[in-house]
Amino acid sequence: MRLSIILSLASAGSAAASDFLSGIPTVPFTKSPSGGIFALKETRAIVVNSEYANSSDNRGTTLIPPTLHAFASTFAADLNSYLDRQHGAVGVGVDVGSMEEHDSKYIFLTIGNASDFLDAAGRETSEGYTLEVTATGVTITGASPLGVWWGTRSLLQQAALNNGQIPLGSGTDAPGWGIRGVMLDAGRHYYPASFLKEMCAYLSFYKQNTFHVHLSDNLYNNVDVYSREQQLDLYAAFRLLSSDPAVAGLNKRANESYTRDIFDDIQSECAARGVTIVPELEMPGHALVISQWKPELGIDTDISLLNITNPDTIPTGETIWNTFLPWFHSKTVHIGADEYVDASLTKDALVSEYNTFVNAINGFMASAANKSIRIWGTFPPSTNYTNNIATNVSIQHWEFYEDNPYFDYIKNGYDVLNSDDAFYIVNKYSGSYPQQLNITRVFHGAPDGGPYAPNIFDTSNSTNNPARDEPRVLGHIAALWNDYGPNATVYSEAYYAWRDGLPALADKQWGGELVEDEYYTIFDTLHAAIPGQNLDQTIASQSATILSYSFDHQPHLPTIQDTSGNNYNGKTNCRITSGALELTPTCSLTTPLSSKGRNYTLSFSIFPTSQKTPGVIFSGPESALLAGNGTVSNVTLIASGNPYTLNYTLPLNIWSQVSLSGQGDATFFKVQSDSSSAATEMQFLTKVGIDGETFVWREIAVEAPLAEIGGGEFEGLVKDVRLTG
Ligand SMILES: *[C@@H]1O[C@H](CO)[C@@H](O)[C@H](O)[C@H]1NC(C)=O
Ligand SMILES: *[C@@H]1O[C@H](CO)[C@@H](O)[C@H](O)[C@H]1NC(C)=O
Ligand SMILES: *[C@@H]1O[C@H](CO)[C@@H](O)[C@H](O)[C@H]1NC(C)=O
Ligand SMILES: *[C@@H]1O[C@H](CO)[C@@H](O)[C@H](O)[C@H]1NC(C)=O
Ligand SMILES: *[C@@H]1O[C@H](CO)[C@@H](O)[C@H](O)[C@H]1NC(C)=O
Ligand SMILES: *[C@@H]1O[C@H](CO)[C@@H](O)[C@H](O)[C@H]1NC(C)=O
Ligand SMILES: *[C@@H]1O[C@H](CO)[C@@H](O)[C@H](O)[C@H]1NC(C)=O
Ligand SMILES: *[C@@H]1O[C@H](CO)[C@@H](O)[C@H](O)[C@H]1NC(C)=O
Ligand SMILES: *[C@@H]1O[C@H](CO)[C@@H](O)[C@H](O)[C@H]1NC(C)=O
Ligand SMILES: *[C@@H]1O[C@H](CO)[C@@H](O)[C@H](O)[C@H]1NC(C)=O
Ligand SMILES: *[C@@H]1O[C@H](CO)[C@@H](O)[C@H](O)[C@H]1NC(C)=O
Ligand SMILES: *[C@@H]1O[C@H](CO)[C@@H](O)[C@H](O)[C@H]1NC(C)=O
Repeated sequence: MRLSIILSLASAGSAAASDFLSGIPTVPFTKSPSGGIFALKETRAIVVNSEYANSSDNRGTTLIPPTLHAFASTFAADLNSYLDRQHGAVGVGVDVGSMEEHDSKYIFLTIGNASDFLDAAGRETSEGYTLEVTATGVTITGASPLGVWWGTRSLLQQAALNNGQIPLGSGTDAPGWGIRGVMLDAGRHYYPASFLKEMCAYLSFYKQNTFHVHLSDNLYNNVDVYSREQQLDLYAAFRLLSSDPAVAGLNKRANESYTRDIFDDIQSECAARGVTIVPELEMPGHALVISQWKPELGIDTDISLLNITNPDTIPTGETIWNTFLPWFHSKTVHIGADEYVDASLTKDALVSEYNTFVNAINGFMASAANKSIRIWGTFPPSTNYTNNIATNVSIQHWEFYEDNPYFDYIKNGYDVLNSDDAFYIVNKYSGSYPQQLNITRVFHGAPDGGPYAPNIFDTSNSTNNPARDEPRVLGHIAALWNDYGPNATVYSEAYYAWRDGLPALADKQWGGELVEDEYYTIFDTLHAAIPGQNLDQTIASQSATILSYSFDHQPHLPTIQDTSGNNYNGKTNCRITSGALELTPTCSLTTPLSSKGRNYTLSFSIFPTSQKTPGVIFSGPESALLAGNGTVSNVTLIASGNPYTLNYTLPLNIWSQVSLSGQGDATFFKVQSDSSSAATEMQFLTKVGIDGETFVWREIAVEAPLAEIGGGEFEGLVKDVRLTG
């Protein structure tokens, strides 16, 4: 008897371990032995258990957790957009009630007992959920509303992968670790709020719950080679913009900043999809923006390092945090505290200063706002110091030359978040880091060649890695840095650096079972199903031709007919002259489109008639194509606030056939001005400045500008506008 129980437990155990639905992450699930499916398109209602409709849960990392009803509403919008795309409009609503009132074709959302959901360390997690699929409906029971939300992601993924059909059966799922996501360097490169919000939608689909945003920093890595005057002028940015007189003058880049309203909107939209924004304001290193504001605080040789001994330094840090703390809706904020040096001090004096700073801000944060702080692993504790950093400060490890996360921190009672540079990306160019997430490392990054996991700090030496169930491992964050500043990349290139690999890593951050071959077979389908974002900037189209304006025959002016079959008709107040659009500074053509991402060709014919008034040919929210910028006549693309200029000017008073083409990471410009000569192909490039000392030319990937033709100072004719994808 006893033996048979053990045997049946063992076999149940192994069956459970190998039973899961393919997905990102995979979903533990046992299919009903009798088979069968539930077709999502038959859903009549999403029913929220009235007992929990208004409940929210405070165990997560956010201070603004959505209610179950709020998550259900976001889910309903996602579901309807999925059903609309796949099966024609249906319009599933959210009801509040009980399961009994809705006995057929429902998706029932409710809350269960958290003790049913355990993380990798065997502790209760509020992010777990059970998915139960029967012929009459689906029940998602979460440990909290957030757990339910992750269950809805599983449901949408399964629908996408199985043509809307969910197999009957059930499974219980929970993340191994509580912090899963990415860090984006928005200090050295600005990103619009819309981009951050779309990134949250993207992260959320793969059950990542954390978006750490690095909000202040500066160029370069060698500030000390510059004179004090030059240091005061180097690129530095603080992205939060407040009108509080206490920080007047700190932010000098109002058009590349987040106001409180904007930052609130980012945080709440991300929270609505289960993603917490963790803000980072960097001090006392990487703090040039602060010493450009208060030059007396900088260390004399390198003012990007604040002099902690200066009696005004810690109070200045507190003033800044005091101003912005009310803006932040996460329980933990990040104070940076990365890469601090002061060559005038001995190592022990330096670390002692550093510890004083971190402990002071930690104490301040706890008393001012009851918040915890996180720092980058920098100076591990040691018996040399009487003021080691308090153990309630969590450590974000990034490099073994800074610390040994296991032996220095975990074994000394600190919680550690894994951001080891095994998954660092430096955008566009780097002497040491890649520009894309390394997928091989995701699936084979453990020292034994097995899959990566948040407890793997060291990909080659397992002695440095705690066990998978080590409770002090908080999770994993993949970081993307913009060391080469604001003009090395356009906004979307941060997304593309992650696009193909991050979902795989999300599986490992959760604790999924996905294997590499399977990843490649499901990636495209799932990618196309991510709700709430269009980071690829795709445009729906019936064929490869997305837009076609010929101007030859336009009987319905001011409407310009799109002959692609997509009916993306434009509107113009310009004259049509001999089958061409006549652009003047007082007219333009507007289209219903905005931008087109990779891969595209935008072709047109152009006949510029004046060089006195160069200007915009095409423009959209992401970019603009200019026949000169008012000073030089060179063809220029403007994107993310930066100009990318060709060594080329369009000839006057003749027709040129032009194509602007985005292919993968690169953007090309092809022109033929004389039908007897060959076309010339050029490439838009960015001149990447490396610490102000050297330069490299690199490709740049700019979206096609489509919202408007003309509308600036350009004068001339345009015809045969065609966009293909
Ligand atoms: C939830 O809260 C709203 C507004 O506070 C209230 O109108 C509604 O009756 C509540 N619903 C339930 C099921 O408690
Ligand atoms: C949850 O389950 C545990 C263990 O089964 C039990 O002790 C506890 O009372 C339950 N809590 C609730 C709220 O039902
Ligand atoms: C830091 O400030 C202290 C006190 O104001 C001063 O004595 C010291 O020289 C400064 N150190 C550096 C490296 O600027
Ligand atoms: C502690 O001090 C000793 C003696 O100055 C030094 O050799 C050692 O490197 C110091 N340890 C740390 C962790 O800084
Ligand atoms: C990717 O990671 C694998 C495994 O760690 C490593 O062998 C390989 O060199 C990495 N590739 C790149 C381009 O860094
Ligand atoms: C592996 O890590 C341990 C602990 O840090 C260290 O003592 C050992 O030297 C490392 N082994 C190798 C081959 O680097
Ligand atoms: C046009 O571009 C040139 C070269 O990059 C630059 O020097 C000039 O300031 C720009 N003019 C305007 C009006 O932006
Ligand atoms: C913000 O303004 C500066 C200064 O006018 C300009 O150089 C930059 O391109 C603008 N940024 C954006 C994103 O438009
Ligand atoms: C323009 O010409 C210069 C000098 O030949 C060259 O270094 C640069 O790369 C060219 N720019 C582009 C965008 O091709
Ligand atoms: C404009 O193009 C010319 C070559 O036609 C080149 O010499 C010049 O450097 C370019 N200007 C800029 C700002 O790139
Ligand atoms: C664009 O084309 C490149 C090949 O040039 C391909 O590798 C890439 O996957 C395509 N990107 C998209 C978003 O379709
Ligand atoms: C980008 O910035 C660097 C300075 O870091 C500058 O030297 C370079 O000309 C800029 N490149 C472009 C394309 O504007």
